[in-house]
Amino acid sequence: MTLDELNRRIADIERETATVARGVAAADSLRSLDSAVLGKTGSLGALIANIKDYPPDQRGQVGKVVNAAKNRIKALLEARLTELQSAATQAEQSQAREFDPTLPPPPRPMGSVHPVTAVQWEIERLFERMGFTVEAGPEMESEYNNFEALNIPASHPARDMQDTFWLTNGCVLRTHTSPVQHRAMKKFGAPLRVIVPGRCFRYETIDASHENTFHQVEGLMIDRDIGLPHLIAMAKTLLTEVMKREVKLRVRPGFFPFVEPGIEIDMNCEICGGKKCPTCKQSGWVEILPAGMVHPNVLRAGGIDPDEWSGFAFGLGLTRLAMMKYGIRDIRVLNSGDLRPIVSPTRLSGQSITM
Ligand code: FA5
Repeated sequence: MTLDELNRRIADIERETATVARGVAAADSLRSLDSAVLGKTGSLGALIANIKDYPPDQRGQVGKVVNAAKNRIKALLEARLTELQSAATQAEQSQAREFDPTLPPPPRPMGSVHPVTAVQWEIERLFERMGFTVEAGPEMESEYNNFEALNIPASHPARDMQDTFWLTNGCVLRTHTSPVQHRAMKKFGAPLRVIVPGRCFRYETIDASHENTFHQVEGLMIDRDIGLPHLIAMAKTLLTEVMKREVKLRVRPGFFPFVEPGIEIDMNCEICGGKKCPTCKQSGWVEILPAGMVHPNVLRAGGIDPDEWSGFAFGLGLTRLAMMKYGIRDIRVLNSGDLRPIVSPTRLSGQSITM
């Protein structure tokens, strides 16, 4: 390369380096540019390495030109580095100025609705669309409403199935939401469509699917010519809507003194996919929705003529349905304050709680 060609090449390198340096926004990128130009194999570095190839009488001149270019480029890169560093310091200082220790802390995520509440709201909206009203009843209930009005007299063995907490005033913590069947019949008469979500209590051994405090949703529909097919269609609609897909159900006979006939509707265990686990008591099925046709004695106790009206009732295990929906393996976490993840690994890709 002649001296003229060398000068033109050096001018090109300096122009390109200046352009790239202006566009660089971080010190790291500037260091990469430095080695791409001044490093041994860099654009100018290669010219420095070639000085030895010039004839001895030209080497001094070529060396001077190339070294002068090297010093200019170094100065240019250092100036740009200083610019970048002072811009970064200014940004930090202005951020520090924005911090005001007298202000309240920034808002923190507020958590979300409890899984049981989320499913309850979903069910309320679904039934309201089907013409049902949402009722509530007291958690402290008279022994009469909790048992006798539901065809369970004091001597009836069915009382053993639902032991509860007896209060000194003679009332009980209700064992199910069914007492509100009686209250609703008395209040509204027939025809009638109500659901009653609520908390229930039982004195029983606690395990992965049993709590002493849990939620149910009672459903009651009384009209003319109501039969079991209406009940089963309703149960399917309910479970499909909540799970957002077709659910595998099992219907078997069940005994409850306040319905005749009585049935148990079980759903396939969502935790193990039916393969059997502690949540489904190693059966592959979860008892979720006992139901039946309202017993004539219960209609009569509610002031409704069983010769004119018929109806179905169900008592959905709301807490268990929330467990199935969100893949919660153990019922106990739902009443605890432990916020560590409670979702089954098999369901981690499952649904999140959105309202
Ligand atoms: C009853 O409580 C009846 N009242 C249901 C009913 C209503 C039948 C209307 C007929 C007509 P059972 O005891 O099976 O039935 O409870 C109903 C549902 O509540 C169960 O299927 C289960 O899902 C849930 N459940 C019952 N006990 C517990 C418990 N200890 N912990 C969590 N869920 C429970």
